[in-house]
Amino acid sequence: MTFAHHKGGTGKTTSCLAIAGCLAGAGEKVLVIDCDPQANATTGLGIDSEDQSKNIYDVFMNVFDGFPDVSIKDVIVETKSGIHLVPSSLDLVGVEPYLYGINERAVVLKDALKPVINEYRYILIDTPPSMGQFVINGIIAADRIVLTLDSSVFARKGMDSLESIFEDIKENTGKNKTPDMAVITRAGVLFERKSPMDELKIIFRQLLFSETPGREEMIRQDELEKDIMKKIKEVFSVPYDSSVYSAQKEGTPVTVLYPDSPASLKYRQIAEIIRRW
Ligand SMILES: Nc1ncnc2c1ncn2[C@@H]1O[C@H](COP(=O)(O)OP(=O)(O)OP(=O)(O)O)[C@@H](O)[C@H]1O
Ligand SMILES: [Mg+2]
Repeated sequence: MTFAHHKGGTGKTTSCLAIAGCLAGAGEKVLVIDCDPQANATTGLGIDSEDQSKNIYDVFMNVFDGFPDVSIKDVIVETKSGIHLVPSSLDLVGVEPYLYGINERAVVLKDALKPVINEYRYILIDTPPSMGQFVINGIIAADRIVLTLDSSVFARKGMDSLESIFEDIKENTGKNKTPDMAVITRAGVLFERKSPMDELKIIFRQLLFSETPGREEMIRQDELEKDIMKKIKEVFSVPYDSSVYSAQKEGTPVTVLYPDSPASLKYRQIAEIIRRW
């Protein structure tokens, strides 16, 4: 089974690796495909993209005349958490102009996966933050789509943006592919806590109206979940958790390094649902 992550907020790479960590931990053969030139999934698994002689760039370029014959099998590396990885690097940005020159530009990744499709129980494709050829290739190659939504960004933009994500996918892939699951990341950060002004407003409100901290956020979180559930069957909220950041620095999925952290507990529930698909 393959599945792609399409972005609606922040936490896509984190979720991809956290889910991969759970599946690998459960004994499944898991391949992560880093399809983002930012290569966050690569570094997130402890691999330095500079150290790799070949990566996803070569796999895409294989379809063009004059470039070396490279199969996806040639670029797979085993990472310390047992997850196999097709690494990425900034080189990948160079692929897009070539893709525009061919008609079959959307199926390059799907075709490239054929040699490994039966070798892995799960193939997870991490896609870039904005719609482009790599997101389209990821969605076309996948038979399931997990959508990540950042709670704070999403709450501000409102529900229209969920519709626009569905439309975006249809417009760009020409297919009625809809997300099978939504993961709301950094739940509880519905207000932009980063701004000191918002922080102050919350403190004042608590002082003046003796509101319990986070009560309003909880209500909005609930409403957000209910609204998304109308469109997507499975909706999960992953709490804000500083261990996500610590694990990232260690180049290990949070679910592998801190299996009992609040985020990991949620990612394990998510992985259990995915295993039943
Ligand atoms: N549950 C969480 N709790 C705390 N921080 C989180 C959580 N999930 C993600 N983050 C943080 O948010 C940042 C972005 O996460 P991530 O790289 O997974 O997002 P992305 O959607 O893949 O972004 P990009 O657009 O760069 O591809 C990271 O610094 C990560 O540590
Ligand atoms: Mg990312």
